[in-house]
Amino acid sequence: MSRKNHIEIDDGIVKRIGRRADEERLRAFVVGGYVRDLLLGRRVKDIDIVVVGDGIALGKKVATEVGRSNVVVYEKFGTAMLQLDDVKIEFVGARRESYTKSSRKPTVQKGTLEDDLSRRDFTINAIAASINKDDFGAIVDPLGGRKDLEEKILRTPLEPRATFDDDPLRILRAFRFAAQLHFAVDPSALQAAREMADRLKIVSQERISDEFLKIIASPKPSVGLMLMQETGVMKVVFPEIAQLAGVDQRRDYHHKDVFLHTLKVVDNISEVTDNVWLRIAALLHDIAKPRTKAFKEGMGWTFHGHEEIGARMVKPIFRRLKLPLDHVKYVEKLVRLHLRPMALVDEGVTDSAVRRLLFEAGEEIDDLMTLCRADITSKNQKLVDQVRRNYDTVVAKMAEVEEKDRWRAWQPPVRGDEIMKVCGLQPGPLVGKLKDAITDAILDGRIPNEHGAALEYLLSIKDEILRGDESKL
Ligand code: CTP
Repeated sequence: MSRKNHIEIDDGIVKRIGRRADEERLRAFVVGGYVRDLLLGRRVKDIDIVVVGDGIALGKKVATEVGRSNVVVYEKFGTAMLQLDDVKIEFVGARRESYTKSSRKPTVQKGTLEDDLSRRDFTINAIAASINKDDFGAIVDPLGGRKDLEEKILRTPLEPRATFDDDPLRILRAFRFAAQLHFAVDPSALQAAREMADRLKIVSQERISDEFLKIIASPKPSVGLMLMQETGVMKVVFPEIAQLAGVDQRRDYHHKDVFLHTLKVVDNISEVTDNVWLRIAALLHDIAKPRTKAFKEGMGWTFHGHEEIGARMVKPIFRRLKLPLDHVKYVEKLVRLHLRPMALVDEGVTDSAVRRLLFEAGEEIDDLMTLCRADITSKNQKLVDQVRRNYDTVVAKMAEVEEKDRWRAWQPPVRGDEIMKVCGLQPGPLVGKLKDAITDAILDGRIPNEHGAALEYLLSIKDEILRGDESKL
């Protein structure tokens, strides 16, 4: 990472905003995620602009200049938002913020750039770079954000309690950034998070779930989930997951503790898929274990029916977390079926059992197998290899059965009109009966799948069927 005092910004729109600020004789800076991600060499998305002065006015002027009328103003927060195609630009006047204790509604007072930076969440998000022409790209970093970026640490600009007090969501944001960037959280911030976890209750569910989903979408979600658990934040925002801790498992291809096992499954699946809802299914696959836990003599701990009860817990959880309900059925299905492929191995991989699972899983069969493979978390490599081989057998059998399933669209080689002609029948149920008899004979392998053989068979059975005597068939 460059420790120069300038950063390269080659965004046309940023230059244009800077020129406009020059004309208005305003000092303007890019700040927050934009600068952080540029310094980290990550892909930069949204643009945050801080203006020493009236941010809303500059936002409106820029919008007019680029011929847009879709600028959204939040007077209360002193911000203006402009959506330019897929880039979101937010303008804000530098402020000293204070929040009322019971909500997140700030009362905004004008401030200097340094005031503004020190009221932000983390030092790595409190680095500014000028966009005025005279010193374009010059970095302003009064809080040592660049050093913390290099040391990969999340530190609050103020004493952690004060920063979290301003907006308790920042506790969860710390864990989100830790998971996304693989940074450590400064110990004093962690301690404050522990003490203030309850304050997350005043934050809106939408904001919490937004951050939570970002943790789930990160490269190694367990980093964030573990921090949530250790600080007691999990208990506040997702008690069902918190309760998985300390629940022992019976089978040896699992970790001992359901919480640790679940984290491993989520990490495993995150290595092979970016599908957040499949990751959520992994997070919830054993969610009913605490409430189905029972000790059986000779067997140890059992969790009878946890897959079905777990599936039924999905919808209430989605509702409470205000997650999009159109993913409920998908997650329910995966939770409900997650033991089936394994059961298939135990019971013998018969055609009909495989066909039933294929039918129930439908389009989700591949995701189900991905979940099952992620669910193997034993440290015993021999066992892991064995279970993997078993799943390979199941998948091979599925392919085989699917191949045969072309029978579904298949028609017997003697058609209804021919049956009517040969037997002198009018359309009616008897025609169907004769056709079914031919179909069964072919599927059972009693006669070959050929027109001649089918016709011969028809002639041999027709009299009995027409007499209503099917006992010999
Ligand atoms: N910010 C803050 N406190 C919050 C939310 C945001 O101080 N509770 C500040 C931070 O300086 C942050 C900036 O506002 O960098 C923009 O916020 P946001 O867009 O939510 O996050 P980014 O840092 O841009 O990260 P990402 O784009 O990954 O969400």
